[in-house]
Amino acid sequence: MSRHVARIVALAVLVAVAGTGTSGAQTMPPSLGVLVDQVLALFPKVDGEVIGQADLHGIDHFNRRCELGIEIGREYWGKGFGQDTVRTLVEYAFEHLNMNRVGLQVLAEDPRAVGAYRKAGFVEEGRIRQHAWVRGRYEDELVMSVLREEWTPRT
Ligand SMILES: CC(C)(COP(=O)(O)OP(=O)(O)OC[C@H]1O[C@@H](n2cnc3c(N)ncnc32)[C@H](O)[C@@H]1OP(=O)(O)O)[C@@H](O)C(=O)NCCC(=O)NCCS
Repeated sequence: MSRHVARIVALAVLVAVAGTGTSGAQTMPPSLGVLVDQVLALFPKVDGEVIGQADLHGIDHFNRRCELGIEIGREYWGKGFGQDTVRTLVEYAFEHLNMNRVGLQVLAEDPRAVGAYRKAGFVEEGRIRQHAWVRGRYEDELVMSVLREEWTPRT
């Protein structure tokens, strides 16, 4: 499947799930201790089958920033679907949500993910030491982002 077909399929299944910022938080039991923020989820499909999930979360319209997360099924890795899905979400963040910054955190020792994000336009900003407990040990995470001013839309 071409990149563009995957993109169209992905765009066709954009689903907006929502809390409503502070008003959502007010309805939650205090014990949960988290804000319900706005999430925009995307489920890329190939031949009608969902091959993964991705989202924009922490959507903050005042500071015009959000965070991106993604997971593509292993059998579909390395075929460009990750790129296509990430770029689709970033494009949506800038063009439709009027965001200024899309950020993410990724395990520093995950060259596949870090490389895929770099290729999609994300820049490394810093390292959070021992930020994640993974497979029985603490691992560092990288903070990466793409800014509106450096984003090159697809032609
Ligand atoms: C990370 C992930 C989304 C990437 O998706 P993908 O579809 O496999 O990636 P793509 O095929 O679109 O992109 C491939 C690019 O990634 C980069 N890449 C892949 N493997 C790499 C490696 N070992 N080292 C460096 N860069 C690598 C390259 O730039 C590559 O482009 P190229 O083939 O032209 O060289 C996917 O592997 C995944 O879902 N992994 C599990 C979940 C995960 O790690 N999510 C991120 C958590 S923050």
